[in-house]
Amino acid sequence: MQLFDTLRRYKMLLDIKKVLDMSSGFHKLWHISTGVELGIFDNLVKTPMGSQEYAAVYDMDIELINAWMEIGASYGLLKKRGEVYSNTAFTETYLCTHSKHCFANFPWGITSMHSKLFEKLPELMRKREKYQISPELALKVAQGTRFLDNWALDVLLTLPVHEENCKVMDIGCGQGYYLIELAKRNQSLTGIGVELQESLCEEVNRRIKAEGLQDRLSVLYGNAKEINLGENYNICLINNMLYYLEKKDAMDLLKRAKKALKPNGVIAVQQPILTGNVDVGFVHWVILIFGGMGLLPRADLINLLKHEGFDQVTTKKIEPTGQWLYFIGKMKQ
Ligand SMILES: C[S@@+](CC[C@H](N)C(=O)[O-])C[C@H]1O[C@@H](n2cnc3c(N)ncnc32)[C@H](O)[C@@H]1O
Repeated sequence: MQLFDTLRRYKMLLDIKKVLDMSSGFHKLWHISTGVELGIFDNLVKTPMGSQEYAAVYDMDIELINAWMEIGASYGLLKKRGEVYSNTAFTETYLCTHSKHCFANFPWGITSMHSKLFEKLPELMRKREKYQISPELALKVAQGTRFLDNWALDVLLTLPVHEENCKVMDIGCGQGYYLIELAKRNQSLTGIGVELQESLCEEVNRRIKAEGLQDRLSVLYGNAKEINLGENYNICLINNMLYYLEKKDAMDLLKRAKKALKPNGVIAVQQPILTGNVDVGFVHWVILIFGGMGLLPRADLINLLKHEGFDQVTTKKIEPTGQWLYFIGKMKQ
């Protein structure tokens, strides 16, 4: 009964398909992480091979390798022709270290984070408390989306970030990557970041100083739910952060962001969307444990932005699988 109460509290029983997606995403992630740790994807780039040959060449347990490869093929992570396994386009692009799009550290980082969450889960469930994130974990979470940086920046550069005296606010700025990169590209751009983790704020302010941008950028330590956001911004960024808030807080933040923007200002919300695809299911699960509303389907996030006064909302794909999107909102003139 307690388990069901907890699941209900974390809104996990609202949609049974989401629960199944999460569970499946979880298993897939553990599988990917083991393959990354053992170097299986990298090794198969060199020579596709059968599990027996693989176990002999790399001195591994034949039964375990055989099981891993079979399950890997059933998840669509490997191709199987006869008895020979090789990478798919997905694993070759994202999980092999030779690829410039490799994000193999991301699933591995998230998986190790999961073990910490699992250790705490019974205690949290007993005490009905949300997970309190540590500074180390906060850094890992903020680092988790680094693989998106170049693609996401390409999208941001299509917004009016080059305008004279452009003023940018980045809510939940994490490591401050976007503020710094935008300020390097526009010498008159100024920006403020807001970040809940003190250790991250210190790190970003150090980086800002190291880049000589301290006259134009700064990061405020505080909770976006309460902090005064200021006014007259041209751009408001909320990158991979809105889903950590409960829905009513997310709506309130959007309302305050709208007030802080100039009338022709733009909001850009970066986040993965829940599709039938299980790949981001695990992200959703982690967020729910942290206590936020989790990932919304595309149409729901568009409606949320429209409800808070961003009348025109468009979406832009960030990375090739189409799971991470920018939701770009503008106000009616
Ligand atoms: C997944 S990270 C993304 C960081 C950065 N925006 C990026 O995309 O690289 C989410 C960040 O939001 C911050 N955050 C979460 N809730 C927040 C809140 N209520 N107020 C301010 N920052 C918050 C977290 O500390 C974390 O650094």
